Amino acid sequence: MDKLDNGYRVLKIKEIIEETPTIKTFIFDWDMKEGKIPVPGQFIMIWSFNGVLDEKPMSISKIDTVKGEIAVTVKQLGEFTKHLHSLVVGDELGIRGPYGNGFKVHGENILVIGGGVGMAPVKCFGEYAKSLGKNVDFIIASITKDELLFFDELCSSFDVYSSTDDGTCGFKGFASHRLIDLLKSSSYDMAVVCGPEIMMKGIYDILEESGIPGQYSMERYMKCGIGICGQCCTDDTGWRVCVEGPVFSSTYIKEISEFGKYHRDSAGVKH
Ligand SMILES: Cc1cc2nc3c(=O)[nH]c(=O)nc-3n(C[C@H](O)[C@H](O)[C@H](O)COP(=O)(O)OP(=O)(O)OC[C@H]3O[C@@H](n4cnc5c(N)ncnc54)[C@H](O)[C@@H]3O)c2cc1C
Ligand code: FES
Repeated sequence: MDKLDNGYRVLKIKEIIEETPTIKTFIFDWDMKEGKIPVPGQFIMIWSFNGVLDEKPMSISKIDTVKGEIAVTVKQLGEFTKHLHSLVVGDELGIRGPYGNGFKVHGENILVIGGGVGMAPVKCFGEYAKSLGKNVDFIIASITKDELLFFDELCSSFDVYSSTDDGTCGFKGFASHRLIDLLKSSSYDMAVVCGPEIMMKGIYDILEESGIPGQYSMERYMKCGIGICGQCCTDDTGWRVCVEGPVFSSTYIKEISEFGKYHRDSAGVKH
């Protein structure tokens, strides 16, 4: 990160898209002047000051430098995200960031793998890589067809391979099974991955065995988002996911002993 931008901006929600029964995208105007343009894979801290008082990290799911817009794509889980889902166009949120490192482009043939709302940062990267002339394929995974995030939108411009746990769209099974199948006929110079950590660990094992370098977007409980509180540090490296991550390449993720095994809650208790 070159320079931290700790200033809050209070931004009006410009547009809301209902993506799936549980996921919505919120679009904001964004000042795209030099030094302020986010990198795919970075996140912002969203502060809600009406209703539910809290602040949470959200990946940037869209960066449109022409229109001057960014978006976040939010799955409704608990109190905070339920509150976000209740907001309407014109409502205001406090936003600081972008933070974290982001994905890096490597090679010509790129595979993007996203599970559930984990599609948010990787879709943004896939679109960026395509704009640079790279060949980009997607594996999109979810529990069921209705929850396949960005499926229709991406199918018009990319080769998209879907997998659903219940077999309602595409391959019946997990993203890792779809990947094994795909690698029988395709090869890639790199892969970017985001989703539940158990899914990412399965994908990591397959990519390592296939010699494909991966970049993985990790989530850990965050408070400050800027490297001060130590809440998001990983065992045994001590790396702060909010600063040294959230994206870790295969070289680094193998050093994180808790990857795919456990994480800590807001009190630091292991789960
Ligand atoms: C770098 C990063 C990027 C993220 N990007 C997205 C995104 O694009 N879309 C999306 O829907 N979610 C994203 N999340 C997760 C999101 O921040 C949490 O799901 C959200 O805070 C849940 O809040 P809640 O009150 O609705 O649910 P709660 O009931 O409070 O929590 C549900 C679960 O969300 C996680 N969570 C809660 N608070 C935090 C926190 N402060 N930091 C990290 N995880 C937390 C915990 O695993 C918790 O068990 C991201 C998290 C991180 C760390
Ligand atoms: S959230 Fe405070 S150091 Fe990462």
